[in-house]
Amino acid sequence: MSEAATEASLEIGPFPSQWRRRHLLGLEELSADEICLVLDKAQQFRRRIDAGQAKLPLLTGKTCVNLFFENSTRTRTSFALAARRLGADMVDFSAATSSLSKGETVIDTAKNIEAMGVDVVVVRHRTPGTPHLLAQNLDCSVVNAGDGPHEHPTQGLLDILTIRQRLGRIEGLTVALIGDIAHSRTARSNIWGLKKLGAHIIVCGPSTLVSPRWAELGVEYSYSLDDILPRVDVLNLLRIQFERQFTRPFPSVREYALLYTMDRKRLARAKPDILILAPGPINRGVEVTPEVADGPHSAILDQVTNGVAVRMAVLWLVTGAGDAGS
Ligand code: NCD
Repeated sequence: MSEAATEASLEIGPFPSQWRRRHLLGLEELSADEICLVLDKAQQFRRRIDAGQAKLPLLTGKTCVNLFFENSTRTRTSFALAARRLGADMVDFSAATSSLSKGETVIDTAKNIEAMGVDVVVVRHRTPGTPHLLAQNLDCSVVNAGDGPHEHPTQGLLDILTIRQRLGRIEGLTVALIGDIAHSRTARSNIWGLKKLGAHIIVCGPSTLVSPRWAELGVEYSYSLDDILPRVDVLNLLRIQFERQFTRPFPSVREYALLYTMDRKRLARAKPDILILAPGPINRGVEVTPEVADGPHSAILDQVTNGVAVRMAVLWLVTGAGDAGS
């Protein structure tokens, strides 16, 4: 590619007028066109990151706040990096040392932070619907960074972007989500997003964590990884969310691992170009063995890089829609 062509391909272009959303609350409410628009923009941001030109002052003068009431490594850091690379200020709120312990409600906390002059609140909370509640009560943009077991839209988008980059399409692929389907917000966002783009989804795990009711959403379910493995194009390995469970869903982690760990032996029975994803954090030896997690089929760290690109696209889009007054 010539230098001029490379330059042109690094352009982000004008704000897409068809994007009207001030908030990103979930992939359930997004259309296939809206999902593709975010993916296309994220792909452009990713190209800039790869070209060493990640800094792009599109949000100069804007302020974003990370309002995280649950732990996070990747999501929190990548939202902060995304905001800073776009030239915005990013402030980190720490729930543990806040006035929540003095009895302040989440809405009051968020309203007080907004009153300091904030354009975007990125929120993670253990209660499903918290971002939706804030969107109703705040004037600024709200982005859902995970609401309990409900949705994690930017994780869904970065997973889909990674699949599209690696396999060139989404339509017609068979994507299996393995593990704690019952408590995983990543599972829900993957299902909404991937189905809209034409993938076939299989949810697979112990019967205590995989309900036959998923079939009502047009999703196949299975209790046996070994049965479904030969026909799967993508495996997304989900962590067992012990922190959201009231009772143990299986007798021991060892027994879970015998049935569901993706290891070298299982890899040998999979399609030769199978793609392995995991949202992280991974528990080596439980969802996946180190040799598979670090092997050629794994895109786990690539997902993390895409996470920054997706969050750059999302912050740019929701603030741009706010500026347009919609
Ligand atoms: C996920 C989350 O927090 O929902 N991780 C992430 O955001 N990268 C999945 C998990 O915690 O297992």
